[in-house]
Amino acid sequence: MYYIGIDLGTSAVKLLLVNEAGEIQNTVSEDYPLYFPQPGWSEQDPTDWWNACVTGIRKLLTGFDAARVVGIGVGGQMHGLVALDKTDAVIRPAILWNDGRTAEETAWLNTAIGKEKLSKLTANIAFAGFTAPKLLWMQKHEQDFFARIAKIMLPKDYINYRLTGVHACDFSDASGMLLLDVEHRRWSKEMLEICGVKEAQMPRLFESYEIIGSVKPEIAAILGLPEGVQVAAGAGDNAAAAVGTGVVGEGGCNISLGTSGTIFISSESFGVDPHNALHAFCHADGGWHLMGCMLSAASCNKWLCEDILHTADYAAEQAGITEDKLGNNRVFFLPYLMGERSPINDVDARGCFIGMRMDTARGDFVQAVLEGVSFALRDSFEVARSLGLSVDRSRLCGGGAKSPLWRTILANVLNIPLDIPQTEEGPGYGAAMLAMVGTGAYDSVRACADALCRVRETVEPDPAIAARYEAQYRKFKKIYPTMKNLFQEIK
Ligand code: XUL
Repeated sequence: MYYIGIDLGTSAVKLLLVNEAGEIQNTVSEDYPLYFPQPGWSEQDPTDWWNACVTGIRKLLTGFDAARVVGIGVGGQMHGLVALDKTDAVIRPAILWNDGRTAEETAWLNTAIGKEKLSKLTANIAFAGFTAPKLLWMQKHEQDFFARIAKIMLPKDYINYRLTGVHACDFSDASGMLLLDVEHRRWSKEMLEICGVKEAQMPRLFESYEIIGSVKPEIAAILGLPEGVQVAAGAGDNAAAAVGTGVVGEGGCNISLGTSGTIFISSESFGVDPHNALHAFCHADGGWHLMGCMLSAASCNKWLCEDILHTADYAAEQAGITEDKLGNNRVFFLPYLMGERSPINDVDARGCFIGMRMDTARGDFVQAVLEGVSFALRDSFEVARSLGLSVDRSRLCGGGAKSPLWRTILANVLNIPLDIPQTEEGPGYGAAMLAMVGTGAYDSVRACADALCRVRETVEPDPAIAARYEAQYRKFKKIYPTMKNLFQEIK
């Protein structure tokens, strides 16, 4: 039997073909454009996602016996607003998770409705990337579009809809809309009312591992799939990644160094960060998690290498950064290229390099970027520690985790061992696992993770390097507060 796991990312969709033993048989990646129509805005065309999935699935199955495929699971970029009209046509491009246009609506929610009430209703406060402020923005700036909305969906739900014809959403992804009562796993009627939408406009809710329907026969014919392939509800990409790295149940931690950077702490019971710096969301295993999310992580390195230095050879850029240089860089980098979510919640924050001298070299900038992202992740890690959560090791996945140098820097900045899973395709693999559970191959997400998730190697911190990074982190921590007001002025 085969399962297809899909990771609907921000730069590309990554597809995996997995057999019943959990072995990856084939992988395919298909890119699509990302649009920044105005500074701080971020959009994609849902049709591009679907076309990339169609091409990708066909490529994925080439040379394999497609008749053996029994299940599909999708993990996807969270929070993006996909609005469909009554014919199920997409009304406008999707407004993505890293879009900062909703500063006013976010502030209105957090002040007029109030953080305390939002937190009581949804377990979270408003952040610019969340879906609810986007609805308020559309209501104000695109009244005609808003009036035409028949269904609201998240990015991966659009793929599930195109596959099955079912309007569904899972609890982990729905948590990031600020419309879900996360504790009780149901839409918050009060939040829907605040945002001017009706429950009939919302997709039906499922656990991530539940089956929402089968691939429609006409779509199966296009994709080269047999009839009756079942589709699991899937999950937000971070919950899917945590499943894929085996972070389920109580107290596990997964760090993802993707376009965004996240720290994900799983829990069997519901809990809220009293300061709401960390998100409190449902997990894909039936439980919950706390999460810190930075908006630009591996994307900072991509930006520096590809857009500024005009190279895609990341390894060559990192080659000269030897161990003696770790913790000794005089250049610091603030990684807020799209503003920042956790923990500073500031859409006006910006990237900056500081500390250059005449002898500063190209490699120092590259190192500063890897370090700046690691320090900013530590900021969320410190919030978790302040809540009394003891995170003494973590799994690591995402594109940035492929760099041995970045893994070493992060292990030392956090001063914890980082376990590298055997399968690095976190969200896609987790999505395939959800399809396995949904189709009955395993009784639970936990059982599936116990059977399939293994650690390939562990990156241990080095006491001397970790001590140097401790001192560097103290300096890094002073930069944003110093710059904060200036960011307001230069925006
Ligand atoms: C999580 C978040 C990002 C996106 C990236 O809250 O916004 O991690 O899901 O795909």
